[in-house]
Parts: sequence; C-alpha cells; structure tokens
Amino acid sequence: MRSTDVLVQQHMVIDKVLDTLAQKLQDTPSAGALDVEFFRKLVAFSNAVDKCHHSKEEGCLFPCLTGKGMPREGGPIGMMLMEHEMGRALIRQLSETLDLYENGDASVDDVVSPCREYLQLLKQHISKENGVLYPMGENMMSEQDDAETLTCYEDGEQEMGPEASEDLIRLAAEMNAEI
Ligand SMILES: [Fe+2]
Repeated sequence: MRSTDVLVQQHMVIDKVLDTLAQKLQDTPSAGALDVEFFRKLVAFSNAVDKCHHSKEEGCLFPCLTGKGMPREGGPIGMMLMEHEMGRALIRQLSETLDLYENGDASVDDVVSPCREYLQLLKQHISKENGVLYPMGENMMSEQDDAETLTCYEDGEQEMGPEASEDLIRLAAEMNAEI
C-alpha cells in the first residue's frame, strides 16, 4: 500500500461521518431540541482526525513533498495547512457553542452554523487532496520516499498509542448508528 492510500482510506471514514452530519443537519429543525450527544461526538471525532490523520499529513507526507521541491507556502500544501487550521477553529467554535447551548445561552442555529461550514470545508478539502495533492505527490515520490513516509506514520502511531485510531473508527460507527 502506498502512503497516500492510507490517507485515502481514512478519508472514506471521514466522508461517511460527513454524510451522517449532513443528514443530521437536515433533520435538526431550528425550533426543536438538539441531539447534543451527536455534536459532542463530532467534536471528539474531529479531534481524533487531527491526531491520526492530519498528523500524518503535516508530520510525514507534507515534509516529504517539500523535501522533493514542492513549496510549503503558497502552493497546495499551504492551502491544505490553512484549511486544517480553519477546521480546528470551527470545531473549537462548535465545542464552545455547545457549552453555551447547554446553559441556555445559544440557539440550535448557533450550533448548526459552524457544523455547516465544517461540512463544506471538509468535503472540498478531501476532494482536493484525493484529486490533486495526492496524485501530484505520488508522481514526485520514489519507492523509498513512500517507504519512509509509511515508517513515519508507524512511528507516529506508536508514539500516540492505538487509542486515536480506535477512537476514529468507534466514533464513526457510533455516529452512523444514531441515524
Ligand atoms: Fe486529508
């Protein structure tokens, strides 16, 4: 398996959760009660994505590609890094808004709004990575680059323990089960 294939497989899990989120947003009327547990799980899922997916890109794949001459600033890598930050900011906003909602200080729409933005951001982010950045990377990387990137992933997994990857799959399953 190539180092980009690992990331494409993780995108499939993320994409499934995004579809579940789209459905949940559609099923959440402004005037009704909010399924707080679902949205808390979305926060936890996004944190797990950061730990075991974005860390592979930012810590292993992107450094390999910049080492091969792809610019870090301005090009597709700079764009992907910026979108990772935008996603983190939206999830922080969601988490804080959920606290406010539970105290009666925020509306359903206040909670739904960052979720809609997150959904759109991640959908197009994934399609740009799958359709543009990863194919560009595959063309630049030798077999040895690929092997070193896979080793970098494994080192990262060992460092953080198996929990992050397990969390990713468990939370995705739990969120789908709630539809
Ligand atoms: Fe990604």
